[in-house]
Amino acid sequence: MLKIVVLVSGGGTNLQAIIDGIREGTVTNTELVGVISNNYGVKSLDRAKEAGVPAKVISPKDYADRAAFHRALLSGIDEFAPDLVVLAGFLVRIPEELLERYENRIINIHPSLIPSFCGVGAYGLKVHEMALARGVKVTGATVHFVNAGMDEGPIIDQMPVKVQDGDTPEILQRRVMEQAEWVILPGAIDDIANKRICLENGKVRRV
Ligand code: GAR
Repeated sequence: MLKIVVLVSGGGTNLQAIIDGIREGTVTNTELVGVISNNYGVKSLDRAKEAGVPAKVISPKDYADRAAFHRALLSGIDEFAPDLVVLAGFLVRIPEELLERYENRIINIHPSLIPSFCGVGAYGLKVHEMALARGVKVTGATVHFVNAGMDEGPIIDQMPVKVQDGDTPEILQRRVMEQAEWVILPGAIDDIANKRICLENGKVRRV
């Protein structure tokens, strides 16, 4: 069984896709052992509660400085003893200690086809605003391992999504979630849990 912890900041639709995937059997050999949010009062916490998954808030507001928050985050994750840490809309820069402790065991979902519209400042709705401003006709989502670079880790999977005339950032965000994120993030977890992928020379290979 692959034990996973999901880190969230907001609505948690990707968390829900993981919960549903495990419940419906499209994500196998996987146990969701905990959810951690950096924000209080977000819908992700209700989703965890409804699914009967232990959830806790580790907010930077409760700590004197960033270093103390990072220590709390690390020990909060350690308490769940996960095999894999899943960033599902977790809009916090991942501290170095966490990257070291969980090397090659952290994955992230990003709402564009990396290397487009990623890096510092590209998160959430802003990514779709950037895509529309550039006028691309295809966008999508990427699930990747997390390393010290911003959105630079080895790519596990990507899914394209067509941009349509009249799209707003909100409409495009929803389509990218439905057609790409909610498919490839649970899919990547299932692949890792069933040892269908490995890392080789900094790239992901199917085995
Ligand atoms: C998702 O679109 C996710 O890809 C994005 O935040 C949203 C969270 O939605 N993440 C990033 O932009 C990371 N750079 P959710 O809380 O409903 O899953």
